[in-house]
Amino acid sequence: MRILKNILVTGGAGFIGCNFIRFLLEKADGFSGRIINLDVLTYAGNRMSLADIEAKYGSMAQVRYFFEQGDICDRAFVESLFKKYDIDTVVHFAAESHVDRSILGPEAFIKTNVMGTFTSLDVARNAWKDSSSSPEGGSIRQDVLFHHISTDEVYGSLGETGYFTESTPYDPRSPYSASKAGSDHLAMAYSHTYGLPVTLSNCSNNYGPYQFPEKLIPLMILNMLEGKPLPVYGDGKNIRDWLYVEDHNAAVWAVMRNGTTGETYNIGGENEWENIKLVNVLVDIVSAKTKLDTAKIRGAITYVKDRPGHDRRYAIDCSKIKRELGWKQTVSFEEGLARTVDWYLANPQWIESIRSGEYRRWIEKNYGERG
Ligand code: NAD
Ligand code: DAU
Repeated sequence: MRILKNILVTGGAGFIGCNFIRFLLEKADGFSGRIINLDVLTYAGNRMSLADIEAKYGSMAQVRYFFEQGDICDRAFVESLFKKYDIDTVVHFAAESHVDRSILGPEAFIKTNVMGTFTSLDVARNAWKDSSSSPEGGSIRQDVLFHHISTDEVYGSLGETGYFTESTPYDPRSPYSASKAGSDHLAMAYSHTYGLPVTLSNCSNNYGPYQFPEKLIPLMILNMLEGKPLPVYGDGKNIRDWLYVEDHNAAVWAVMRNGTTGETYNIGGENEWENIKLVNVLVDIVSAKTKLDTAKIRGAITYVKDRPGHDRRYAIDCSKIKRELGWKQTVSFEEGLARTVDWYLANPQWIESIRSGEYRRWIEKNYGERG
């Protein structure tokens, strides 16, 4: 079992990263070290998501949480953090993460997801050179870890049957998934070529608190609350496999603690839903928890033009992580959706903060009514 001390979390102000930091400091077994959250704060990054964590762990005698605003593409800055905090672990969440945005503007995805991952890996490789080896030998410490977070989208699209396993060939089909595939290959190349201790996980669709309201579930919840149309792409029959974000993060932690370096672990919910069926379930939950009229909300479901290149079905075989690391899902979809709706109902301030800035203007410009 690895003992991880000074963990650099990239993208920790985003949806999964902020939940990961919360999980690590408040719930995870076996972590008493420090977290350094490196985030450039794009439209998707919000420091407010960790305001309570910052207050609690950023001001104790032995400070355990630090926030550093910066870009993972900025080599000098990333290098300075490795020195300043004696980083021994990286968990790399930072990315441009929204497929629709990657179709409208792929460049930022190539910069952050490919170049940013390359820069982070390369800084780690240099910072973690084993000082006891000869300078030419350049061997790398093995008491360190770079965990790269990726997605099931790198495997492409499934037909009606079958599952993605760790040996499914990569077949990315959107600029987002192509950029993530590139980053995965770089991470594995650094492991293979330089001996950098790397683990990789590919996860299915996450949902839960603090998710930016451009993704299906929070977008639908907020549009329902605001009486807006509920845009369903194409015929609504595309299928995604949904996992509660805390279960994803517990899996990531299991890999970081006990996973084998040089290996990939698939993480999934074993919980496949057609989009239209999921939206209908959300209508039921939201109307049950508010005074809103079920028929009126359901009537707002609007089929809109399909996403170009829209992958039909994702489904993950996560038997490897279950078998080898003893991980399993703990939150049922019913429970997770109820918690998620409750969270959005209870946090109007967070929603307002995220909607007031760059995001609002961008989404209106590109999506008009949909936002
Ligand atoms: P998100 O968009 O909510 O958050 C991304 C974070 O990265 C933001 O805080 C943003 O400010 C930061 N960031 C972006 N560019 C940066 C840069 N150049 N330098 C530093 N910080 C930068 O994303 P998310 O949904 O939390 O996804 C996190 C990771 O998990 C991504 O790598 C994504 O590919 C992967 N993933 C997401 C899902 C999902 O369902 N959301 C599923 C599987 C894998
Ligand atoms: O599978 C993992 C991936 O899941 C992650 O790697 C991505 O970062 C994450 O954004 C997510 O990608 P998707 O494209 O699957 O998520 P999104 O929430 O954008 O869409 C989910 C499904 O819902 C998809 O089939 C498209 C559809 N959709 C989405 C939106 C935003 C709609 O029908 N209407 C919408 O308004």
